[in-house]
Amino acid sequence: MALRCDLIVRDATVLDGTGAPRYRADVAVEGDRLVAVGDLGGASGAREIEAKGMALAPGFIDAHTHDDRAVLCGPNCLHCKSSQGVTTVVVGNCGISLAPTRMGKRPPPPLDLLGDESWWTLGGFGEYAEALAKNPPAVNTFAFCGHMALRMDAMEGDVYRPARDHEIARMQDRLRAALREGAGGFSTGLYYPPNAQAPTEEVIAVAEVLAEEGGLYATHMRDEADGVLDSIRETLRTGREAGGGKGALEVVISHHKCSMAENFGRSRETLALMDSLGQDQPVAFDVYPYPAGSTVLMPDKLRQDVKVLITWSVPHPEVAGRDLDDIAHEWGMTRRAAADRLLPAGAISFMMDEADVQRIMAHPRSMIGSDGIPHDEKPHPRLWGTFPRVLGRYVRDIGLFSLETAIHKMTGRCAQVFGLPDRGVIRPGAFADLVLFDPARVRDHATYANPTAISEGILTVWCNGIETYREGNEATTAAAGRFLGNPRLKAA
Ligand code: ZN
Ligand code: CU
Repeated sequence: MALRCDLIVRDATVLDGTGAPRYRADVAVEGDRLVAVGDLGGASGAREIEAKGMALAPGFIDAHTHDDRAVLCGPNCLHCKSSQGVTTVVVGNCGISLAPTRMGKRPPPPLDLLGDESWWTLGGFGEYAEALAKNPPAVNTFAFCGHMALRMDAMEGDVYRPARDHEIARMQDRLRAALREGAGGFSTGLYYPPNAQAPTEEVIAVAEVLAEEGGLYATHMRDEADGVLDSIRETLRTGREAGGGKGALEVVISHHKCSMAENFGRSRETLALMDSLGQDQPVAFDVYPYPAGSTVLMPDKLRQDVKVLITWSVPHPEVAGRDLDDIAHEWGMTRRAAADRLLPAGAISFMMDEADVQRIMAHPRSMIGSDGIPHDEKPHPRLWGTFPRVLGRYVRDIGLFSLETAIHKMTGRCAQVFGLPDRGVIRPGAFADLVLFDPARVRDHATYANPTAISEGILTVWCNGIETYREGNEATTAAAGRFLGNPRLKAA
């Protein structure tokens, strides 16, 4: 009997997410799954699309985001991601997660990247999962539980110090509950005070819960500049020692970079170190395709040789998008004084070398992650441009790697690292997370001056079989996404 299904994309150039060479085929979708891939001349779909050789890939998995709050606000809020072909976001990075902590007052930076205290109302990860189920966004969500959120909840009084034993025990209990309620792992942001005051032993002790319950460890490392090699060693030691007899944890180094001019070129050393230590334990990293970073504004970390753009400021919202030097000049004060006056605030800092960015991106362990910050007034362009930028600038224009490799770093590789079954791949039985795009035309338009410009060449996107984006349509309105829970959870 001839196959009848909901949707057939005919005559597509399939990039299946594994890195294997592209091939021409028809792809059939029934409900939320792919049901057939091949020559489907005898089949018919309720809807049929002639791809005319355009590229069809698994929906992109944004390996590093701060979309914790954006995914809660329903189908309309993730247009920045759906318009790039993204169908899954990984939230809760850098130690920053909305659950499981309530806040009575504005949280200290960098937690406030996600918003003021009015957003911190979730007592547990279960509540986060419920909120997502009640009002789903247009993307799937994989969530980390953040160390800083746990610390705020567990520590009494001053948090700018190592946690005491009973506080660590409290963090372990909270993390254990979070993993059982759907957190897929534990993240830290050891670069940021007050988390920087946490010794490695505190992190290892909390991370031990991952080995018991199941889950991976992701970290914004203590130092991405002079001490980057030591930080890599610390991260891998954490994975080994927290894993204990159960084998090393899977670790993800967040937004890998070599920061500051004196460290330019050192990605040769960092990648070699990961490769040598990685022979005995699993290690991956994510990277975004820009030589500038973005986070909260930290006046005591400013350097004269690093250009800074302000992304938001609570007392001075009018300066968002402007150069800190110009603001300081206008106000007739030093850069440092101007920065102090802008707090709380966010910033973009130009502190990387393009050659390092390319070397890191091209490494086989890399995954593409935007690190976009969705609530900034004038966000870093990575929020709207990351994936088309890799496909346009780095694959087509520069030829840094093949289209197959790029797609693998956005799909199959991420699904493997985060442990997402039946995602990140095109084959019968997999989820129908798909992106149809034009490889000759795809490119990012978001810039530092115009950061929310929509990308070009992403034609149609489906998440769980539901269309979430079509080029030329303004709004993403499909509540198609699912909370992916903790795929590594061990049976109790
Ligand atoms: Zn980070
Ligand atoms: Cu981040």
